[in-house]
Amino acid sequence: MKLKMASLRSPKNSFCLAFLFLAFVQTQVLCYQYKVGDLDSWGIPSSANPQVYAKWSKYHTFRIGDSLLFLYPPSQDSVIQVTAQSYNSCNLKDPILYMNNGNSLFNITSEGQFFFTSGESGHCEKKQKLYITVGNASAAYSPSYGPSAMPETSPSYPTVFGTIPAPPSYSPSLNFPVFMASAIGFMVCALLGGIM
Ligand SMILES: *[C@@H]1O[C@H](CO)[C@@H](O)[C@H](O)[C@H]1NC(C)=O
Ligand SMILES: *[C@@H]1O[C@H](CO)[C@@H](O)[C@H](O)[C@H]1NC(C)=O
Repeated sequence: MKLKMASLRSPKNSFCLAFLFLAFVQTQVLCYQYKVGDLDSWGIPSSANPQVYAKWSKYHTFRIGDSLLFLYPPSQDSVIQVTAQSYNSCNLKDPILYMNNGNSLFNITSEGQFFFTSGESGHCEKKQKLYITVGNASAAYSPSYGPSAMPETSPSYPTVFGTIPAPPSYSPSLNFPVFMASAIGFMVCALLGGIM
């Protein structure tokens, strides 16, 4: 018993605690919360910048653990997550996820492609729509964002993905990278400290 107490206070264990803390901070910092379009308001793109959401998603890389923040006046707009098919055809029925609180956080919990538009009729047609690719799926489909307008109803979205699985409706309090870092850190510390 005495030995255990002493070993817990040893410098080795202080080092371990510091390591765990750093690992935790590090993994936290690697998760980003993106304000969609870098705009203060999710809405119909201005005529000056109709491709704002397409351009925005093209120039960002998203990872599991990141989240998308949609800000908008709650009485005037909403966000829906839809399938690729619904995204293309602006079908607002049966969305995967519906959010209308004005401060909607979409948590990225898996790889794949995620399609969003407004739940208000007419907004999708006016290009208030966004899709992101998370992880390796980027190789599957890369639309051209040239100066010419994007094809409005391009059928070329990959069907390999089928329907995009809905993310779990809860957000795990401990995400995977954090858990892994902690687990690895713990094992290293256990070995160093000879707890095992
Ligand atoms: C995303 O996570 C935040 C906080 O962890 C939570 O408030 C929010 O409801 C989550 N969003 C969804 C769509 O589950
Ligand atoms: C990425 O995709 C390629 C082919 O599409 C596949 O061979 C490779 O294993 C994938 N990599 C990962 C990390 O999933």
